[in-house]
Amino acid sequence: MDAPKKRVFSGIQPTGAFTLGNYIGAVRNWPLLQDEYDCIYCVVDQHALTIRQVPAELRKRSYEAAAMLLASGIDPQKSLVFIQSHVPQHSQLAWVLSCNAQYGELGRMTQFKDKSSKHADNINTGLFTYPVLMAADIMLYNAHYVPVGGDQKQHVELARDIAQRFNGAYSETFVLPQPMIPKVGARVMSLQEPTKKMSKSDANEKSFVLMTDSADVIMKKFKSAVTDSDGVVRYDVENKPGISNLMGIYSVMTGKGFEEIEKEFDGQGYGTFKTAVAESVIDTLRPVQDEYNRILADKPYLEGVLKDGAEKARYQANKLLSKVYRKVGFAQF
Ligand code: TYM
Repeated sequence: MDAPKKRVFSGIQPTGAFTLGNYIGAVRNWPLLQDEYDCIYCVVDQHALTIRQVPAELRKRSYEAAAMLLASGIDPQKSLVFIQSHVPQHSQLAWVLSCNAQYGELGRMTQFKDKSSKHADNINTGLFTYPVLMAADIMLYNAHYVPVGGDQKQHVELARDIAQRFNGAYSETFVLPQPMIPKVGARVMSLQEPTKKMSKSDANEKSFVLMTDSADVIMKKFKSAVTDSDGVVRYDVENKPGISNLMGIYSVMTGKGFEEIEKEFDGQGYGTFKTAVAESVIDTLRPVQDEYNRILADKPYLEGVLKDGAEKARYQANKLLSKVYRKVGFAQF
């Protein structure tokens, strides 16, 4: 008999349309894992609540996020797709794990430091314990691998530490999860300030490309991307962060290596290069956008997928949670 497939889990917040960074760093890679692994992909609405949300918007965006995951190639016949708040075991496990996570280690999380300085008027405890809920997401399904962008590596490592600590205290229970980070595109940078991560919360809309942007808008954003005055398309993150970022994007979109790209644009200006990068993104996103619009218009289908996904996830989650409850000593009849 074949060995059971290893499990993959990842999540994305429904805080607006996905950026090209979300796509390249994470979502694009998720469908590629579906045949080899047992994959679970989650729209993490509870995580989104750590920043103030407009309720009607959050609801709408959860649908949109799920539609975008399916449009990106996640096949609900192969992978589970669901909304986090539909599976209450995530927050139930998070409580137990929070009693096995240290205040000091949570305080060291760079995302907490970043977000609490950006939202100084709302440093809620959810923002602080966010990585514990994320650990619960992963550990509830005993995921081996977590495909994420570079910014989430620290959180996955924390999940691993918590898993190890729990296993040590209560006997072997959890798989120790590992981050799966792409070689190219783990950190897609802002088009305006290429030393900063591309993020949809950036005040400057020209700094990010959204998966839902029209071809015109994508072209304009790439044409106004900040580069340098050197005029040579060459990969050098330190001295040429703007061009290197565009090369990374182009490389992922076309499958070409950096040397090949350098040769392709040898002796040509940045204008030609930027246009080619924009076109590669437009061509890649076009079918995804068409599929997204089609799925979003078919609400009964989308709801059916999410309902089915949540039901199967709850079944899995319950098994693990019962085991944990027994191990920590909760009375069970
Ligand atoms: P989120 O919603 O901020 O981002 C979703 C995924 O996109 C990646 N990403 C990027 N990758 C490359 N370049 C960028 N500029 C860029 N911006 C975002 C992120 O690394 C992420 O993989 N905490 C998570 C959500 C989460 C989760 C989980 C992930 C909750 N529970 C369990 C994995 C497993 C987050 O806020 O991602």
